[in-house]
Amino acid sequence: MRIVVGITGGIAAYKAPELVRLLVKAGYEVRCAATEHALEFVTRVTLETVSGAPLYHDLFASGGTEHISLKDWGDMLVVAPATANIIGKVASGIADDALSTLLLAFSGKPVVMAPAMNSLMWAHPAVQRNIATLKSWGIRMVGPAEGELACGTSGVGRMAEPEEIVRSVATLLQHTGTLAGQRWLVTAGPTYERIDSVRFIGNYSSGKMGFALAEALAEAGAEVALVSGPTSLTIDHPRVTLTRVESAREMYAAATSLFPQCRGAILSAAVADYRPATAADHKLKKQGDEGMTLQLVQNPDILATLGGMKQAGQTLVGFALETDHELENAQGKLQRKNLDYIVLNSLRDKGAGFGVDTNKVTILARDGRREESPLMSKREVAELIVKTVAP
Ligand code: PMT
Repeated sequence: MRIVVGITGGIAAYKAPELVRLLVKAGYEVRCAATEHALEFVTRVTLETVSGAPLYHDLFASGGTEHISLKDWGDMLVVAPATANIIGKVASGIADDALSTLLLAFSGKPVVMAPAMNSLMWAHPAVQRNIATLKSWGIRMVGPAEGELACGTSGVGRMAEPEEIVRSVATLLQHTGTLAGQRWLVTAGPTYERIDSVRFIGNYSSGKMGFALAEALAEAGAEVALVSGPTSLTIDHPRVTLTRVESAREMYAAATSLFPQCRGAILSAAVADYRPATAADHKLKKQGDEGMTLQLVQNPDILATLGGMKQAGQTLVGFALETDHELENAQGKLQRKNLDYIVLNSLRDKGAGFGVDTNKVTILARDGRREESPLMSKREVAELIVKTVAP
């Protein structure tokens, strides 16, 4: 396995050579990437000696594309120490030096950060918000630990010890599943579209199919970003990061920002096609005998948008919930939304679809292949889908 160690400019950078030494000793191939500030704390010669490879620290030294070659080379990027500065840059999408450029390019592969800073900086709401953003994208944090800090005080902010970082790396990489090192996006559950402060338009999706897909992908070794509408389900898997949303527009925002970093996406959510044109911020009163008219406007189509964003090498899988002309309608969605596969759910099949623990699906591939499942648990259906779309 190949690991890129990124080093930023904090006093804990003096521990980076030890981290590299331990990773090499554990059998990993290592290359280092450092910011200019990191080189105030640790020298190029030290990092090149312990890693046995040239250091990447100048964005333009070899034609300005080294960040892409290094991204292609590495199976994982470990940033230790990660200062408040690099955390803020990545959270804001800033790429203005060798390491931040590499971090933005390192999509679809696991990234680990070991934050290190003064405890006041660590507690700052901006840093906490940025950490939450990075975690929601699937970036793993190791530490920081509590203890003595370089400024003479003590508190939370010490970089995790190199041995602990190596253990985390080993745990993350030990999975030898076929999807190890890949990141996948899954949408699940219903969306709620607000009418007023107490009412919404929703549907009967429980989220069970989407959560089962997230588990099946994670069990196959993938890092999974699960975006779910309102559901009582929870998930506790080290490789699944859950983002809860309410409306179709919130799901759209989350899914479109996560998709570019993913190897593929499976959209099983039952997204409301329409929402009320306006949502009252108070409880609407009864309108009397004449009834009430709600004006609805169309929601964005998340799947079609991802179909438009899809790059070579990404796999996009949609679901189709149909009541009639099932195959024909599903084929139409597959073509129109630029999908690689579509999973057809027929509401005519007993025991399939909303709420229940079982499902029965037909998986249609773009090249015409077709796979039909018997009625099985949603977990078994999820495994079949994962095996078919990510063999
Ligand atoms: O959650 P469960 O109770 O386990 O139920 C599972 C399920 C029945 C919800 C699931 O198996 C399923 O069929 N999901 C798709 C439901 C659906 O909304 O189908 P659709 O034919 O309306 O949408 C087609 C595809 O476009 C779906 O992938 C959907 O996620 C996507 N879509 C639809 C509308 C929209 N605005 N954005 C979308 O991304």
